[in-house]
Parts: sequence; structure tokens; C-alpha cells
Amino acid sequence: MRSTHEGRKPYNVEVKAFQRGYTMDKPSQMYLLYDALFALEDVRELYRKSLPTGFTEKEKAELTERVQKVRTLLETLESGDKSYPMKYITDKLEPRIREEAFINIQPIQAAGRLTPEARKALIAYGDGYSVCDQCLSPFRLDKITKPPVQEFHQELAEFLGMDVARVVPGARRGFQAVVSSLVEKGDYVVLSSFAHYTEFLAVEQAGGKAKEIPSVNNVVTGEACAQKIEEVKKETGVLPKLIMVDHFDYTYGNEHEVRGIAQRAREYNVPFLLNGAYSVGVMPVNGKEIGADFIVGSGHKSMASAAPSGVLGVKSEWADKIFRTTKVTGDVTGRTFGIKEVEMLGCTLMGATLITMMASFPTVKERVRHWEEEVKKSNYVTTQFKRVQGSAILSEEPRKHTLTHVDTTESFDTVAKIHKRKGYYFSDELKERGILGQFAGATRRWKLNVYGLTWEQIKYLSEAFIEIAEKYGLPVTG
Ligand SMILES: Cc1ncc(COP(=O)(O)O)c(C=O)c1O
Repeated sequence: MRSTHEGRKPYNVEVKAFQRGYTMDKPSQMYLLYDALFALEDVRELYRKSLPTGFTEKEKAELTERVQKVRTLLETLESGDKSYPMKYITDKLEPRIREEAFINIQPIQAAGRLTPEARKALIAYGDGYSVCDQCLSPFRLDKITKPPVQEFHQELAEFLGMDVARVVPGARRGFQAVVSSLVEKGDYVVLSSFAHYTEFLAVEQAGGKAKEIPSVNNVVTGEACAQKIEEVKKETGVLPKLIMVDHFDYTYGNEHEVRGIAQRAREYNVPFLLNGAYSVGVMPVNGKEIGADFIVGSGHKSMASAAPSGVLGVKSEWADKIFRTTKVTGDVTGRTFGIKEVEMLGCTLMGATLITMMASFPTVKERVRHWEEEVKKSNYVTTQFKRVQGSAILSEEPRKHTLTHVDTTESFDTVAKIHKRKGYYFSDELKERGILGQFAGATRRWKLNVYGLTWEQIKYLSEAFIEIAEKYGLPVTG
């Protein structure tokens, strides 16, 4: 039997969803809303293509026509039309409706969802170098005052509990900047055994060697870190050049002993980089309080920003090294390049990415204060989840994060073994209930992230797991 591949819709799922008594066909409504938004963009285009002096008669007539189209579309939307087709934006490019029409539990997408402010800023600042209108001497991104990029950098450093901050194209580019500044060929870097591959690649690119700290019960401890440092010292006669550990890892969403690790790093006088890809932007994280020399965050993973975006915070004693400015001179032209920072290649996030991060920032600063509520929701889901007998939580419990690794080998997978759709039956059932993001076809070990869901959505999601179990006769406890 054929399995469902990307791009092929699981058979009948939408139809079945419709039969479940939904009061609204959200996908259809979203396609309609997008058409209205795009029609507004067509109105905007008239302004872009006309003279500063105003519209010609032809353009005026065009404006009336295009505005009318928006009006008609909005009226149709309001009337609750149920059968609006999906239209491509351009060749094969579908409008994305996942966040509006579904509950998305995809493990890496949850906290990168844009805020309404970020989406608005994206509309207004989508053009290439859009934040660079007022880039005046000394010509560097973090010096721009309008929009307030400079101010944002200062606030960002404060938010991270560090002295200096920069925006970077993803957490990976933050690792790269630090590693390439500190590590030379043959140097050792101590990493968590849960380190993300991008941390390894940053070490590899610098010609360094990676040594992993083993975990105990899937948690990396200060003690194990010290043992690893000793091991490197014994083997090579020198200390590692850097320690990099993830605050919360991507596999289990477990919290690692970052304070203990920072303390050991200090004792051995080895700089410590805290990977906050899963923490900065969702919970309060203060780099200095933890004892980190560097802190890296991911904009698109945890700061409600467009990809690729990230942040790098450093303590002042490292700032000159990491953010060293160019010394190069052209031999023909004799040109030099002022205060451009080598690791940043001058400037980093020059438009849409930066503006989404800036626009989301007030919300992000506020939302970290409500992390406990998010954790409560996460624990609610896992408690309900375990009611389906045989379902297990592989992540530490109680949950301290919204990303959770689950094991349904003894529950939902027993159905997959005899179902004609194999593991895809489970994704189909979730999709029928408007839930996406579970790895399609996976019924053994898989991950979900419930960050940012409302309590209503959390309860709906939890009930969906129970309902599916009951439908297939799996035992559910009271
Ligand atoms: C723990 C961890 N660190 C770093 C990264 C890389 O982040 P970015 O995509 O922002 O470079 C990821 C991405 O999945 C991750 O899970």
C-alpha cells in the first residue's frame, strides 16, 4: 500500500473534518482572507507604480476597482462562505494557513510564530534593505537610530542579562561567531551530549575538536562537565577553549544544569556559551546570573521572529574579541572598512527578519513573565496524554518546558500495526480534528510543543488524544 508523501493530501481527511460538525471551514475562510489581504496589496501596488504627484484618471479608476474587490471579498468572508478555493500566490506557492486553520504542535515552530505586530511590520518592511533608509555614518546595522535598531540592541543586551548584544542570522551564526573567535585548529571544545548539530559544525568549521559531556538520566550536569574538562586536560595537556551547553535540549526539552556548568567553567577558567535556543524569548533567562560568558538565542525558534534570526549576547570582557572590527586593507585601492565587525561580516539582519524581531520584542519581554503558565499547560497535556494506557513521556517530569518527547509504542502504535494506513492513521485522525505538526506517520517516539496554545486549545488537544484512543479501543484510564 502507498504511504502519504509530502505534497499528497491524506485521503478524505478534509472531508471527514467537515463531517465532524465544525461550524466553520477555517481553511476555506483563510484562503478567502488571504485573497482579501492580497487584493489590498494590489491596491498598494498602485501607489508604488504611480507618480509622487498623484494618480492619473486611469489609476483612479483602477483604485476604485481594486478597492471594490477588497470590499467584496471581505463581505463574502463575513457571510461565512464555506467553499472558497485555495489559490496560488504565484506558481505552486500556496498561502500558508497552518497557524490559523489548525492547532500546530510542531516541535520547533511553536515559539517562533509571529506576533500580530511582527506580521504587520513584515508587511511594511518586507523590501530588501528596508531598515537601512537612515543608515548614516559609521554605517553599521546596530548604529541605526530610525527605526530604533540601536536602542533595540541596548534593550536586547539588558534582556539577555549581558553587556553587549548583536542580532545574527540564527543561533547557529551566534555559535559560529564565538567559536571562530576563540577556537583554532586542533583546539578542543566541550559540548553537551545533547548539543545541536550546528554547534558541532561551528567547531568543525574552526578546525576544532568536539568532546561531549555524557548525560545522567538525560540531564547534563556540572559534575560531568568537570570530568570532561579533566579528561581533555589529561589527554592533551591543555584545557578546552570553550564549553557550550544547551539550556534546554531539542531532543527531550530537558533542563540541564547550566548554573553548575557555569561554575565549573569559572573554576577552570574556560569560557562558557549558553545555548538558549529553547529558552531565550519564552522564559526569563539572565546570562550573567547563570554565569555565562556568551548567550545565544534563536529568533525563529523562540522569539516570535522570521527566519533566519537569532541573538548573541556577550560579557564586556569578551566584546572586543568577538566583535573585533576590520583591519584589512585593499592592496590596489588602499580601502579600509571602518568599524565593520569581522564576525558579523559588517551587517546581519537587514530587513524583514530584524523588523519582526523588533516588533515582537515588547510581547516577548512580557511573555517570558508568564512561562509558568505555559509549563502548567504542558503538564496538563502530558497528564491527559498518559491516560491512554501504554503512552509514556520520555522527557523529564514534571515538565519544565513545553517541548515534550513522547513514546506511544505501546498505545497508538499497536493500532498502526494493523491499520491499512499504518502510522498515518494517527496523523489523519489528528488532522481531521484540526491538529497538525505531529511527525506524519510516527506512532512510536515523537515530539510535540504546546507553547502559546490557549487553555481551550490545550484542552481540545488533550481530548483529541483520548478520543482517538477510544475510537480504536485503546484502554483509557479515568
Ligand atoms: C538546541 C538548538 N540549538 C540551536 C539550533 C539552531 O538554531 P537556529 O535555527 O536559530 O540557527 C537549534 C535548531 O533547531 C536547536 O534546536
